[in-house]
Amino acid sequence: MYAVLKFFLFKLNPEKAHYLTFWLIKCTNYLPFFTFFAKKIFNLNNSKLKKTVFGLDFKNPVGLAAGLDKDAIAFNELGNFGFSFIEIGTVTPKPQPGNDKPRLFRLPKNQALINRMGFNNKGVVEAAKKLKIRKDKTLIIGGNIGKNKLTPNENAVDDYVVCFNELFDVVDYFVVNVSSPNTPNLRELQEKEPLTNLLNTLQMLNFNKINQKPILLKIAPDLTDLQLDDIIEIVKITKIAGVIATNTTISRNDLNYDKVDIEKLGMGGLSGKPLTKRSTEVIRYLKTKSNNAFPVIGVGGIHSAEDALEKLKAGADLIQLYTGFVYHGPKLIKQINRAILNENM
Ligand SMILES: Cc1cc2nc3c(=O)[nH]c(=O)nc-3n(C[C@H](O)[C@H](O)[C@H](O)COP(=O)(O)O)c2cc1C
Repeated sequence: MYAVLKFFLFKLNPEKAHYLTFWLIKCTNYLPFFTFFAKKIFNLNNSKLKKTVFGLDFKNPVGLAAGLDKDAIAFNELGNFGFSFIEIGTVTPKPQPGNDKPRLFRLPKNQALINRMGFNNKGVVEAAKKLKIRKDKTLIIGGNIGKNKLTPNENAVDDYVVCFNELFDVVDYFVVNVSSPNTPNLRELQEKEPLTNLLNTLQMLNFNKINQKPILLKIAPDLTDLQLDDIIEIVKITKIAGVIATNTTISRNDLNYDKVDIEKLGMGGLSGKPLTKRSTEVIRYLKTKSNNAFPVIGVGGIHSAEDALEKLKAGADLIQLYTGFVYHGPKLIKQINRAILNENM
């Protein structure tokens, strides 16, 4: 069924297809018994899939990556498709329109996307309102936070603090996003000093709460080994709960398109199949080099059960999908969970 829907969706401009899909997903609320049947079709309930990671109980290891439900509009409905966790955001303190359109491109020959959305979102306050109504209490929600485009890096911490405070009561874990290539200079915050300062500030707020929330750091796949060593050290120093590896890449290697055509698309982060290998390498490096010191959520180019198993074997404690979900639809989640069961992982 998704193949038919995809046939029509892929004829539309990618961003329009995204909004139409969201509208369709929201419409399912008006179909009697849709939730019941969707859960029957797409969910695989088995206690062997359950995992406790950074203190949270996940009913299976497969989640939806940040960026699809930026404004927490459809997390309840997306939860029906078998994900055990949904990451909303990236949200910023103030609403912002994001970059000029077009800003999302499909590369079907590579099962990939290029995006330079630029944190288009309605602001953290709106997202927090939406998150108050959680239909399925077993669905875990992550809040991915960032800074506004116009906030200079010197004041970036303030933006993350605003988002942290606004979302604290309505999410289960936080993700500090300093790795998007689409907000000018954001990735400079991955440097040792500003990053340690940012994470320490958030951890201080966190430690002052009665019920602390896990804070994770989302990193780029384009970091060198030396930079990854710094990340390991920073995670240990700041005692944050873990790392999400990885965000989209700025690399354009090995694409089945003419270089000139790719260049014409302009800047942006590449996701999907071309990212599979590199994000797995980053996961393996973090896990091996740190001696498995902290949990890692593996994301980047998971388009099949095999891709997912590879990430888990490389050391990922949980995994997330985005582009694979766009190309293959909800059936992929169940396929992955079935493969995990078969592998006895
Ligand atoms: C259109 C689009 C928008 C995204 N927006 C965000 C975002 O706002 N915050 C974030 O942390 N990651 C964002 N991502 C990155 C994804 O969460 C994920 O890390 C990346 O796409 C790699 O996974 P994939 O290959 O399964 O898509 C976005 C990705 C895409 C394709």
